[in-house]
Amino acid sequence: MPYVEVDGRMLHYRQKGSGPVALFVHGFPLNSTMWLDQLEGLAGRRCCIAPDLRGFGLSAPVTGEPITMENHAGDLVGLLDRLEVDEVDLVGLSMGGYIALAFAEGSAGRLRSLALVDTRAGADSPEGRIGRDAAIEHVLTEGRGAFADERLTALLSPTASPAARARLRSMIEMSPYEAIVAGLAGMGKRPDRTGVLAEVTVPAVVIVGADDTTTPPSLAKAMAAALPDAKLHIIEDAGHMTPIERPEAVNNALAGLFDRVNA
Ligand code: MLT
Repeated sequence: MPYVEVDGRMLHYRQKGSGPVALFVHGFPLNSTMWLDQLEGLAGRRCCIAPDLRGFGLSAPVTGEPITMENHAGDLVGLLDRLEVDEVDLVGLSMGGYIALAFAEGSAGRLRSLALVDTRAGADSPEGRIGRDAAIEHVLTEGRGAFADERLTALLSPTASPAARARLRSMIEMSPYEAIVAGLAGMGKRPDRTGVLAEVTVPAVVIVGADDTTTPPSLAKAMAAALPDAKLHIIEDAGHMTPIERPEAVNNALAGLFDRVNA
């Protein structure tokens, strides 16, 4: 089990393949196992590294203070420094996309390419922030099972397979309450990073499930238009969790990006 220590905190990561590093950043409240199909399918093209973000998966626990997108982006920089990796192809899903944009803002020189998957560049609306507080209350009073019930309905396409539903439920129900609370509070604090998109001059893709109601295709189209060198992939029969709902389609889109970078 590989770990690195960043700022006194142990961060666990999964690694497969060899060559230039692609870094896969998971969504909320998930962990690195959401990328297992990508690690398997893309190992021939990249050294694929998927960390468990602070508080999640096998990484060190947190105490419940908000964890900001900048905290996570700083951890990723620390991980790359420890592994002596200069540049990465950065892939982020949803909260992982918020973190990827914080990374792009602070460490643009370390980006070789960027893949934004089922995510948005904007901040939470005032109603969205109220929704974060309600979600904290909901998970603390009703428990992770009820929280998972709600998110499975919201995040997956109605056509999602039992295997995809099982993976999402396991990830949510495995996440510590402290990380769920800290993650919700931290996401509510993130700034609007729409302006960062125009500064990302490296090759990029924006991937979204056609049935994603959380970060819908209209947002993905706008992000792809704002990025100077991006391709848009709208994946049929997928909701907000395209990497586990339609892994081959996501792998093909990422392989295309990596080939553009290599060309
Ligand atoms: C995620 O999938 O990471 C979350 O839906 C992001 C969010 O709640 O904004």
